[in-house]
Amino acid sequence: MAQPRKIRVFDTTLRDGEQTPGVALTKEKKLEIAYALQELGLDAIEAGFPINSLIEEETVKQIAKELDITVCGLARALTQDIDACIAADVDMIHTFISTSPQHLKYQMNKTEDEVYEMAVKAVEYVVDHGIPCMFSPMDATRTPMPYLLRVCKGVEAAGAKIINVPDTVGVMYPEKMRKFVSEIRKEIKIDLDVHCHNDFGLASANTLAAVEAGVNQVQVTVNGLGERAGNADLEQVAMALKLLYGMETNIKTERIYPTSKLVERLTTVRLMPNYPIVGDNAFAHESGIHVHAVLKRAETFEPFPPELVGAKRRLVLGKHIGVHGIDAKLKELGITVDPEQLKEITAKVKNLGGKGKKIVEEDLAAIAEDVAGMMPKKERKVELIDLVLNSRLNEKPSASVILKVNGVNGAEKRSTQEGVGPVDAALNAIKNALGGEKITLEEYHLDAITGGSDALAEVMITLRRGEDTTLARGVHEDVVMASVIAFINGINRIMK
Ligand code: KIV
Ligand code: ZN
Repeated sequence: MAQPRKIRVFDTTLRDGEQTPGVALTKEKKLEIAYALQELGLDAIEAGFPINSLIEEETVKQIAKELDITVCGLARALTQDIDACIAADVDMIHTFISTSPQHLKYQMNKTEDEVYEMAVKAVEYVVDHGIPCMFSPMDATRTPMPYLLRVCKGVEAAGAKIINVPDTVGVMYPEKMRKFVSEIRKEIKIDLDVHCHNDFGLASANTLAAVEAGVNQVQVTVNGLGERAGNADLEQVAMALKLLYGMETNIKTERIYPTSKLVERLTTVRLMPNYPIVGDNAFAHESGIHVHAVLKRAETFEPFPPELVGAKRRLVLGKHIGVHGIDAKLKELGITVDPEQLKEITAKVKNLGGKGKKIVEEDLAAIAEDVAGMMPKKERKVELIDLVLNSRLNEKPSASVILKVNGVNGAEKRSTQEGVGPVDAALNAIKNALGGEKITLEEYHLDAITGGSDALAEVMITLRRGEDTTLARGVHEDVVMASVIAFINGINRIMK
């Protein structure tokens, strides 16, 4: 059986990735990322641009010294840049010069012949120092093919080991990329590499197209970092090569998610939640239909198991969740409820989600405990039918309640009372509606379950009726409602 084709993965997070606007990595951070990239299984990494500064040269040098994989330094096609890479003791030098008419005219003010000379001389200089050389004709994809091939053949003859094809301003699309790289592949014998920018969101697709056309190496960055819209994304390219193309790389896929998180933390560039493979929502399910199916068989709505990239599946609690999702989540939290309670918890979660509240596990646990702690509907003596609050600046707040008191022909009781605050007013109104009942509030505790102004409030109270005391709790996104729920729960228990 034929072996799957093997593709080398070259990471430039520490070079092009560091050129992401606003990103600057210290030596320590670069080292931490470099080790993570080595552990992830990269074949080679570009550790930096040594001519940039002495500290950059030292950083690249230390990474090259400490890592076992190929560590590359970037150099313009200039002796002083190459010397800085040599001083950094790198395992490979990546030298580049622009070849497109736009760059020749407006950036360098040089002729094609002058650029050709510089490219060949730079490669010869690296090779003369006994260091493997990768050459990039920058802006290759906007360079006319005859001139591009002339430069590529010149540097191949000069001893370059790899030619990289950069889509510097991300103007390719897959079909065009396939044709473009195929033309180079026909003429060039040494290894080809590709470096795509994401200006049209096609960097990963173009990289894969270049692989189809015969490149042996792909340049990527973690989280797609890089100049402007970034580079081809390591996670997407590695997973597509493995699962969609059936090709081999040395990437240990289960290290993908932790590495992405590390880079996110150290660069402080946050990923969009819907970012493929490593975004917060990549393996999150909320809709009841999806959750139900995924719980039965994950492949229904997942292209591959999250564990394959070291991530975890998330069931999101929101307005689209159904009983199956809540049931699974409760089981995960070790909470057992009966079917009636499960329905009630689901209704509460959907209701909160519908109001735009982000419900996390702690909220669910509190809602479940609250519902499970409530008496079954048919055993409840008192139920809240309505509550109206009136609270104005410089005026005492008042509350009007309507209660249904079971057992007294299902009678409705109404009352309006004032209080020192809205909670006090609401509880006074409930007490008053119940008339002769001598129930006193002995203790009251209020907690926010999670942070934020939309946090769920949890109220714990102790009630006394004669010799009896009871504990009760209430959970709601509104403090007054949490207090009222706790109070009515307590009344139901103590009047049993
Ligand atoms: O985008 C680009 O062309 C580059 C080169 C240095 C390869 O980053
Ligand atoms: Zn680039």
